[in-house]
Amino acid sequence: MLHKLTNEQLMIQSMVRDFSRKVVAATAAERDQTKEFPWDNLKKMGELGLMGMMIPPEYEGQGADTISYVLALSEIAYSCASTAVVMSVQNSIVCNSIYEFGTEIQREKFLKPLASGKIIGAFALTEPDAGSDPVRQSTSAVKDGDGYIINGEKRFITSGKNAETIIVTAKTDESKMHKGISAFIVQKGTPGLIVGNIEDKMGLRASDTTDLIFENCRVPGENLLGKEGDGFKIAMTGLDSGRIGIAAQSIGVAQAALDAAVKYAKKRKQFGQSISKFQGLRWIIADMATELEAARQLMFFAASLKDRGEKYTTQASMAKLFASEMVNRLTAKALQIHGGYGFIKDYPVERFYRDARVFTIYEGTSEIQRIVISNNILKDNRSPR
Ligand code: CAA
Repeated sequence: MLHKLTNEQLMIQSMVRDFSRKVVAATAAERDQTKEFPWDNLKKMGELGLMGMMIPPEYEGQGADTISYVLALSEIAYSCASTAVVMSVQNSIVCNSIYEFGTEIQREKFLKPLASGKIIGAFALTEPDAGSDPVRQSTSAVKDGDGYIINGEKRFITSGKNAETIIVTAKTDESKMHKGISAFIVQKGTPGLIVGNIEDKMGLRASDTTDLIFENCRVPGENLLGKEGDGFKIAMTGLDSGRIGIAAQSIGVAQAALDAAVKYAKKRKQFGQSISKFQGLRWIIADMATELEAARQLMFFAASLKDRGEKYTTQASMAKLFASEMVNRLTAKALQIHGGYGFIKDYPVERFYRDARVFTIYEGTSEIQRIVISNNILKDNRSPR
């Protein structure tokens, strides 16, 4: 730990751990099969104040710091990564963006129901032909009287089907590259907003990932978030915070995989003794625990910089890069320790392995994180600390 957790942070962690292991864990394996959206978990999480944790109480959030948020998110991911990704997008990219860039009217109208967890939100940036390079997106927003008409297609949108409020980016000026992208708040039910294909995924199966199609979708001018041309900055700022969240999700799943591997290794007997007595396996467990701890410290470091109001883009990318690659190594090792039992659905490591796979991909691939980190280090002509 970089510093001792405060009593309040420890209380939040303990409250969420208790809730997660009693309530969220109970249906995680079943949801992975049925793909049922975790509405009941999310409703309770809203009541516990987990859906707008870092938003001030006057907008129905909890006013918690980022350390408390990552502790809570890791605890939810420990039990169900599908539930955790919905919490992560809601807190990091949706609520924070409206709080930071929204007008007072937008905060009242859109942020309050999101931060209190009454509704779910989504952030629509990615397109079929613009993933790592969102500047070259083709969705457009054309001024029409006092509003805008949006046309285009967004892809891989977390909570796209279940979200009531969606932040969507679109080009308002083709000639200006990233400075020509704007962000709009669009509500479910707006004519011309269509939920398209719902993806059938390898992991995070209880969280919906969809196409969103905008066909002459008219939004009022007051739904422009920030100013015209602020959309790319809003997305990048949201992703900085989001990437700490992906580190937290990775750490939650990695801790669950390590705990499952230790439990299994202690119980399983081969060659006349518990397999946990074999040095080959003990060294694997030592490496797993060490990597996990290193990732946790990177996550805490990025979160504490954010809490202190310092620049944290580089550290958020480092935490996301290291933690998401770490959890893929750890879940593979945990599965290997389970032998043949790791490959079947009776044990949770099979789900952990599948759920973790996307963490090196969404909210910026590992390759994008390396671009962000190296760009910032080379620009500053020094390592970030
Ligand atoms: N914060 C604020 N502003 C930033 C910023 C940041 N972190 N990063 C860049 N910017 C600003 C720059 O300052 C620059 O502005 P000025 O010209 O005014 O100085 C502008 O943005 C352009 O910066 P770059 O030249 O660095 O931009 P680029 O086109 O080279 O792209 C990139 C940079 C890092 C590759 C970026 O495009 C990127 O992060 N790509 C990955 C996108 C991504 O993560 N997608 C995930 C989809 S969302 C998702 O997965 C959510 C979900 O549902 C789970």
